[in-house]
Amino acid sequence: MADDLMSKIVALCKRRGFIYPGSEIYGGLGGTWDYGPTGALLKKNLKDLWWKEMVQLRDDIVGVDAAIMMNPKAWVASGHVEAFSDPLIECKVCNQRFRADKIDEIEEHAASHKEKVEWTEPQQFNLLVKAYLGVLEGKQSEIYLRGEITNGVHVNFKNVLDSTRVRIPFGIAQIGKAFRNEITPGNFTFRSREFEQMEVQFYIRPEVEEGNKWFEYWKQNRMDFYLSLGMKKENLRFRDHAEGERAHYAKAACDIEYNAPFGWSEFMGIHHRGDWDLSRHMEHSGQDMKFRDPETGEEFIPWDIETSAGVDRSTLFLLIDAYTEDPSTGSGQGRIYLKLSPKIAPYKAAVFPLLANKPELVEKAKGIYDDLKQNFMVAWDARGNIGKRYAAQDEIGTPFCITVDFDSLEDEAVTVRDRDSAKQERVKIVDLRAYLNDKIK
Ligand code: GAP
Repeated sequence: MADDLMSKIVALCKRRGFIYPGSEIYGGLGGTWDYGPTGALLKKNLKDLWWKEMVQLRDDIVGVDAAIMMNPKAWVASGHVEAFSDPLIECKVCNQRFRADKIDEIEEHAASHKEKVEWTEPQQFNLLVKAYLGVLEGKQSEIYLRGEITNGVHVNFKNVLDSTRVRIPFGIAQIGKAFRNEITPGNFTFRSREFEQMEVQFYIRPEVEEGNKWFEYWKQNRMDFYLSLGMKKENLRFRDHAEGERAHYAKAACDIEYNAPFGWSEFMGIHHRGDWDLSRHMEHSGQDMKFRDPETGEEFIPWDIETSAGVDRSTLFLLIDAYTEDPSTGSGQGRIYLKLSPKIAPYKAAVFPLLANKPELVEKAKGIYDDLKQNFMVAWDARGNIGKRYAAQDEIGTPFCITVDFDSLEDEAVTVRDRDSAKQERVKIVDLRAYLNDKIK
């Protein structure tokens, strides 16, 4: 059942332009994915909503956009060169490599061989992706693509303090690409080698009570964000990290997990990073990373409560959560639709002329389309019959389909069909903009 659902989602993503395998015409590149026209819109809507909530609507968070390529010393300081690794084992039968901590994947592989499988001893495999910068290849030009987007924020802590009016507690937000040399990419986009993150590093006074307060605050705040996007409550849960499971920088960590077809899976984390990053950058760069309280003159290295969400995993779980098969509607054969919140849906509405070969209908519909697209992402479709157009829009999650028919020429109204109920209502053309605004809130 679970495999079946995943293959349906993967097929829909390809068929409807959400996600394609990376470099597909060359046989692909493991762990990379390309977002098509609908996928790019969905992902952008997610990132825009996140940025609006985190940066635009808050007075205590500012945004940055740091470089992907950094001086490699930053990755030594942050501990990634030494400790950002997964345990790797190799199957002695076929030399395929696996993560030693992914027991299900190991067992599945062992079962695929007739003979008894023996494994090499686990060894730590560093996940940082190396690149060469400049005209010389060799150790001196070796850099790392960022393994998490976090470092670019911490190294700019002082710059942000000196160039803005923020004061502790405050956060720095960032959205951007990260790269990891994952041993076994898999589960569609879930474990990729190139992916995007949305993070806030929230700097607080270095006090246990403050740490606990903000940690709990951000856990609930992030859960509420995903609920506000329409994700089903029963498919979301918190999971605290056990001792020994946490990343090298974390004093405490809690994941938000989704009930995916392949099991409960992390798609964002809240991490209490303490003063790990700022202290290490202070030590390694020799630069002062302390905050000086302007009122008391007190100096301290702030602690950091981080919220780190995967854009791709969030997008994948939004798609899975929205995937709906409805046997009761759709000309007798049932239908598939994506029950995406109108806030996040790639297109807010689609506009159709009832018949493509009637210029008066096409002209009227085009006028509505041109007008609405000034404010909303709107799709146009004049191909095939209305049933096929509805089916195509359902599969990309368009919440409203607007049809211009012969009556529209007389009564200046259109038929608006609701994606989820398939019910239709008549709406005056002059009211369409307000109608959509009201539904998309
Ligand atoms: N700065 C903290 C940090 O990077 P993480 O738990 O390693 O923490 C945060 O990653 C989020 O980034 C994860 O919850 C996940 O959504 C996303 N992520 C991490 N590795 C990923 C991968 N290989 N493919 C897709 N998303 C990934």
